[in-house]
Amino acid sequence: MEKFYITTPIYYVNDVPHIGHAYTTIAADILSRYNRLKGNNVFFLTGTDEHGQKVEKAAQGRGLSPKEHADIMVENFKSLWKKLNISNDAFIRTTDPEHIKTVQGLIQLLRNNGEIEKRQYAGWYCTPDERFWTEKDLVEGNCPDCGRPVEQIQEENYFFLMSKYQDRLIKYIEDNPSYILPETRRNEVLGFLNNNTLGDLCISRPKARLAWGIPFPFDEAFVTYVWFDALVNYFSATKYLATPLNPPLVRGGWGGDWWPAEHHLVGKDILTTHAVYWSTMLMALDFPLPKNIFAHGWWTVDGKKMSKSIGNVVDPNEMVKKYGVDAFRYFLFREVPFGLDGNFSEDALINRTNTDLANDLGNLLSRFLAMAEKYFNGAIEKLSDPPGDFAKQCADANHNVHHNDQNWSQLRFNHILDAIWEIIRAGNNHIAQKEPWKLAKSDIEELKRVMFNLWNALRLTAVSLYPFMPETAEKMWKQLGLRSLTEEAGDKNIFTWEWKPGYEIKVQKGEQLFPRIEVKKEMQKSDEQKPPVGANGRSLLQNEGDNLISIEDFAKVQLKIGKVLQAERVPKSSKLIKLQVDTGEPRQVVAGIGQAYAPEDLIGKSIAVVTNLKPVKLMGVESQGMLLAATDSDGVLSILIPEKNVKEGAKIK
Ligand code: ME8
Repeated sequence: MEKFYITTPIYYVNDVPHIGHAYTTIAADILSRYNRLKGNNVFFLTGTDEHGQKVEKAAQGRGLSPKEHADIMVENFKSLWKKLNISNDAFIRTTDPEHIKTVQGLIQLLRNNGEIEKRQYAGWYCTPDERFWTEKDLVEGNCPDCGRPVEQIQEENYFFLMSKYQDRLIKYIEDNPSYILPETRRNEVLGFLNNNTLGDLCISRPKARLAWGIPFPFDEAFVTYVWFDALVNYFSATKYLATPLNPPLVRGGWGGDWWPAEHHLVGKDILTTHAVYWSTMLMALDFPLPKNIFAHGWWTVDGKKMSKSIGNVVDPNEMVKKYGVDAFRYFLFREVPFGLDGNFSEDALINRTNTDLANDLGNLLSRFLAMAEKYFNGAIEKLSDPPGDFAKQCADANHNVHHNDQNWSQLRFNHILDAIWEIIRAGNNHIAQKEPWKLAKSDIEELKRVMFNLWNALRLTAVSLYPFMPETAEKMWKQLGLRSLTEEAGDKNIFTWEWKPGYEIKVQKGEQLFPRIEVKKEMQKSDEQKPPVGANGRSLLQNEGDNLISIEDFAKVQLKIGKVLQAERVPKSSKLIKLQVDTGEPRQVVAGIGQAYAPEDLIGKSIAVVTNLKPVKLMGVESQGMLLAATDSDGVLSILIPEKNVKEGAKIK
């Protein structure tokens, strides 16, 4: 039995949760449920970040004390997690007295070890982001992160001597390729660290300016910077919210302890605070670093950032009410590879539910159950025949779900779902090929085999879907005549084609899993308004110049084959198309090919991508690489496509 400790960010209680918060938390739930099913010892932590200026202001606006405000707001998160079937083991609040004590203890420890200094400080401060910036960070005099005005502030503060860990951090990230994932984000962090001098981190705020924070342990005039307080939650929770590991696990001298975490899941917005602040804080404390920080992408709604002023914030409670919890959970992880940005739309959710869930999955189960009842009164004979083609096909796909460690360790949820759907599609094809209604008249023995194999394919599907859609999986399990999926947790054989229950199988038709959602007229209309088609374009491949280069120069360029998963136009640009590309790992590429290609023509194509370019922003959209294209003298532009089918991630040399 292994330990598996996973965290989400702790969310600010200044506002109510939306799909972005739901996204990270469901991802952590999927991994937790999968690990529990594998028999691992799981600690899944989420919670709320309750100190700092944002929360203080929100409370003031409602005429409440910050704690009163937090006590009310925290319930929105807790009740949403229940609705979404989030199986967190603990919920931390940074106002918990035990957390406060841990933060103070660690600050004192750092002070004793000479890691904290008091200094006079002058800088530009962004109040909403609670961050200091230097003059050169500012963009047109405003905060580089949120674009809002900054104030010049001069005051005494305590500084964590972060700068001295710069080289050690670079080396750590270089030596541990999966410390920061996806790889594009890791390269960004390394690029930032290699090209900038890391400053020291201001970890206090004078009480006179901000009262709502953890009191500094050795100086009453200050409270703790909210990020220092918040990051410590990952450690402090293991001390008072987790049940002790039993039997204790020994890991690098930290016997019996939950720390370090296997994964910190975060959105890309807070990668720096985790990859740089938290990592260096841990180095200074001489604590082990987490095994992985995974920064996922950003959800927009109908192509726009979610914002209250636009009024496009999607309430997950609403989505669950309208479409059901499992359809919502499934959609978020099927639609967009984890790591890439995605666009949320209800018509896409409806579409997915109707095609994948109602048609593919729902039909397979209901057809199977109807036949089992009709031909055998629900009894399925357990057979041990050598596997035929169908069984082999299912077992192969199943291997990718459960035995491809890369898929799970690199959080490739969409690859896992792809493999599960291979089994479901194979099941539907098997029915079409075998025509059981004919066998019922001609060959009962063969019919028994077909039905047992279909049963087994559905059983494996239920096990595999459990982390993503726990309610659906349990319903399937029961309808398939089995007892309780979660009770079987820990039996490793449950993941294999060969597993059979120790009791007779009698299937039972139940409620339909996913009734089709009727698409309203307006929805159909908006579906037709897909991005316009363009003509002509320009090449991103530079013409060869006279300057010859050596093979070593060429070798610096990393080229890979990537599969285009999604493509859409960059708003207000006739040339730029934003592509989500799988180059063995997710990546967003912006290409100036919008006059030669329509986005929908690119989806599914294999293209050549330069993968080690520094990320740039084109019309405000980040591009993590460049695709290769050729333009001839008539201005005809063509992207480069491999002549044979090669897997995504294949190196071009
Ligand atoms: O940053 N798309 O809290 P927060 C995807 N308290 N994910 C999104 C998202 C979107 N549009 N919007 C939010 C904080 N998220 C700090 C964290 S941790 C020690 C302290 C998710 O309430 C995503 O996980 O602003 C993002 O990182 C997090 O919510 C930010 O939540």
